[in-house]
Amino acid sequence: MKYAIICGSQREDSQSLKVARYIENQIKALFPESETYLLELATANVPFWDPSIWAGAEKWKQIWSPIAAELQSCDAVIPITPEWAGMATPMLKNFFLLASGKEIGHKPGMIVSVSSGRGGAYPINELRTSSYKNNQLCYIPEHLVIRFVTERLNEAEAVGEDDAITRERIDYALNVLEVYAKAFQGIRASEVIYNDKFKFGM
Ligand SMILES: Cc1cc2nc3c(=O)[nH]c(=O)nc-3n(C[C@H](O)[C@H](O)[C@H](O)COP(=O)(O)O)c2cc1C
Repeated sequence: MKYAIICGSQREDSQSLKVARYIENQIKALFPESETYLLELATANVPFWDPSIWAGAEKWKQIWSPIAAELQSCDAVIPITPEWAGMATPMLKNFFLLASGKEIGHKPGMIVSVSSGRGGAYPINELRTSSYKNNQLCYIPEHLVIRFVTERLNEAEAVGEDDAITRERIDYALNVLEVYAKAFQGIRASEVIYNDKFKFGM
């Protein structure tokens, strides 16, 4: 099983990246046979969408094609976003403009949102509403909100009860995602779901 982890913060060395790396390590610990692909949008230099992508412009071939190849080989997607002004980041929304059904369609997605305070609910709602229609990513019911993130996941072992329950919840969510990822391989094997006429959802 291969997992794509998309870190949506636009800041280098962000708290979201800390969470992304923790999740990547936990995937390796829980499922030693698995592979991961971590895309850090803050440093990946992915431009904002423009119409030249549809004309097959060279710049998009260079930048997007290697990312697309990684995504195509993944079985599950974990978008991670900080809550910024009550929203998911523009870079993460841009990622969902660029990623098509060919890359992430009919794969289970598990959203992770990050807040330095008590926030984090709004990006979950936003992504569930408006990031999957054209690319057919399938969000599972489980998601994670990492609140008070600067106090979480900092040491090798949990520090205090809140950090411990956060880690326990992450493991639970990753185990749930693993079950969905296995089941969705069967879904992608079905010819029923591929229809060029209706490929963009409604
Ligand atoms: C532009 C901006 C807007 C923010 N808005 C919110 C917000 O609406 N709710 C919230 O809980 N935290 C907000 N924060 C704080 C983030 O939760 C905090 O920066 C946290 O570390 C996650 O962001 P990071 O992954 O970029 O580090 C905001 C931070 C920035 C830079």
